[in-house]
Amino acid sequence: MKLATRLQNLGTETAFAVSLAAAEWGAKGHRIFPFHLGDLNLPTPANIVQAMNQAIADGKTGYCPGAGIMPLREALAADVGQRRGLHFDARNVVIQPGGKPVIGKFIQTVMNPGDEVLYPNPGYPIYESQIDYHGGKAVPYRYIETPTGFALDMRGLESLITPRTRVLIYNNLQNPLSCESSAQEMAALARLAVKHDLWVLSDEAYFEMRYAGQSTSIASLPGMAERTVILYTFSKKFAMTGWRLGAAIAPVPIAEQLAKLNTNDESCTTHFVQYAGLAGLAGPQSGPQAILDVLRERRDACVDGVNAIAGMHAARPESTFYLFVNVTGAMKSKGMTDVAAFATAALHETGVSFCTRRHFGRPQPGETEQYIRLAYSGIATADIREALQRLRDWVGA
Ligand SMILES: Cc1ncc(COP(=O)(O)O)c(C=O)c1O
Repeated sequence: MKLATRLQNLGTETAFAVSLAAAEWGAKGHRIFPFHLGDLNLPTPANIVQAMNQAIADGKTGYCPGAGIMPLREALAADVGQRRGLHFDARNVVIQPGGKPVIGKFIQTVMNPGDEVLYPNPGYPIYESQIDYHGGKAVPYRYIETPTGFALDMRGLESLITPRTRVLIYNNLQNPLSCESSAQEMAALARLAVKHDLWVLSDEAYFEMRYAGQSTSIASLPGMAERTVILYTFSKKFAMTGWRLGAAIAPVPIAEQLAKLNTNDESCTTHFVQYAGLAGLAGPQSGPQAILDVLRERRDACVDGVNAIAGMHAARPESTFYLFVNVTGAMKSKGMTDVAAFATAALHETGVSFCTRRHFGRPQPGETEQYIRLAYSGIATADIREALQRLRDWVGA
């Protein structure tokens, strides 16, 4: 019995394989420091949990419209619009079971087989997987390491555009790099999108996960609103990763197609969970603020700990909950050239578990530096300090 050939093109989030390796090592009695998965070990704010229980008690347990319940669509249109200086209404909002489904549904809506799609690499691995799976040509663009983090290689990106380029995927407040475009960088990207008439997915999963300053959406730049779909998620801001609640905010003709895909794929997002999301948006914002306060402390512990290790360095990001750490020197001092072997050795020698550059898209020709990603959202500050001290001792040994 043969499986469908298209499955050969389906990628995955290989970070889950790192979880498995960590769990296996942990099951042998070793202490694990889980820096590999971008999950939060913080509780969902209580008002959201109460609203979900109330919704179940109120009988919100049947099907609801494929595009989502109207009060949540209206609330998101207002909230997302107000934070970005844009005007949306409920017709622009299509509720999803998480932010992730927006990626595949967006690609199915705007990309034909053979179309070229620009996507960030290193970047969230699902872009590459979904482009490949739906028969597009995945064209990776790069970032350059600078003393303050990472910047988009704009010249390189421009040189990749051909008459077949149809789509640009952009993730500002980026996973795994934690970088943010300057105003000039974002404006240049928007001009390119307009000039070449590209559809844009603006993955804004971390739009509100920031420790200082304010986020800007590329959708708010001239000529962009009509060509941009925003990926929104409740996962990070409200510590709701396992609830599966997100949305696409899209021009109406796209939103209508996304809703049709919802009807085909899952009928609707879990009905009572949508009332929980509504409570999150409408309720006190002290919950999300408390989450950010904890994450800021962890970020500082993580940055300080990493930069105290010889042969490792990372800038202090203002957003997300990741550090993309240059470990080239540390690997050299351990006599290693393979970053996967470095990760395995670190797990076995120190219990510190992390993803490497290879989990974030196919490596590009000419890459010379070695990187790992530390997600500090699921580890208490004291454990971050201990983990990085263990790494430091191991690298220095
Ligand atoms: C850049 C990026 N986009 C989208 C998602 C998907 O988020 P969700 O859990 O809401 O599906 C993630 C999750 O880690 C992410 O890092």
